[in-house]
Amino acid sequence: MASNTGDNKRLSGKVAIVTGGASGIGEATSRIFAQQGAKVVVADIQDERGNLVAGEVVKAGGEATFMHLNVANEAEWERVIADTVKRYGRLDILVNNAGMSGPKGREHVEQVQRENWDAVMAVNATSVVLAMKHAIPHMRRAGGGSVINISSIYGIVGSKGGGAAYHASKGAVRILSKMAAVQYAVDKIRVNSVHPGFVESPMTAELHGRPGVREERESLTPIGRIGTPEDIAMGNLYLASDESSFVTGTELVIDGGMTAQ
Ligand SMILES: NC(=O)c1ccc[n+]([C@@H]2O[C@H](COP(=O)([O-])OP(=O)(O)OC[C@H]3O[C@@H](n4cnc5c(N)ncnc54)[C@H](O)[C@@H]3O)[C@@H](O)[C@H]2O)c1
Repeated sequence: MASNTGDNKRLSGKVAIVTGGASGIGEATSRIFAQQGAKVVVADIQDERGNLVAGEVVKAGGEATFMHLNVANEAEWERVIADTVKRYGRLDILVNNAGMSGPKGREHVEQVQRENWDAVMAVNATSVVLAMKHAIPHMRRAGGGSVINISSIYGIVGSKGGGAAYHASKGAVRILSKMAAVQYAVDKIRVNSVHPGFVESPMTAELHGRPGVREERESLTPIGRIGTPEDIAMGNLYLASDESSFVTGTELVIDGGMTAQ
């Protein structure tokens, strides 16, 4: 991986792609990575918001650029990775954070509509294998890398409210990460999954606005509050940095103690 350039920032000299970088956890991750010296590609389907985030990073003295990416589309992955390497010369960090839940992700088993299932699996799970397929050759060439796949506590435990496709897709991300960790350790490419608990973001805003939902989630969380995107981004920062050079194939649960009980 890139060496520290001496300014004591935790990601100096590294190049990162953050999917879903226009909003929520991805936005916080993009900003924090750039503050820590990374050159960040903010990749998302939300062009306006993504450009805004990248522009604000640059205004604050960081390095970032927005690239349009539908993570379910392999040709778009090839383009974004090629453009990243062309622009910044290398690829060290990949954060597969883009994801969807919503009504499609929340269908219980007996309600599952095949096209909705396929859509959620494509964005939440298939995207991760497409991304790694095209990123790994560049990481190998750079001498190593860190892949951070955003799963969920719903990729570890079941729930009464969660949907079939969301749970299944997040479980797939968890085990795919472990498999890739074992197979690419030889190339010094680390692969870990991150499992957020209940987090306040545009994804959960509508749900948390329903009567009683936020209160119920707070009471299910021992720490007694909903998480922030920054709570998760700080875990991503650790896994992206060389501080975690002996960490691969792990599950970093950031959930206020929710799944400890
Ligand atoms: N918020 C939570 O409580 C929570 C809990 C556990 C896991 N997560 C996971 O964290 C990740 C980020 O979620 P968030 O809460 O920040 O949500 P968010 O809705 O704020 O952000 C998700 C981003 O992904 C982008 N996106 C969606 N589909 C895409 C596609 N096909 N291609 C490219 N970009 C796409 C959206 O445009 C958005 O910018 C997701 O994978 C989510 O499943 C969130």
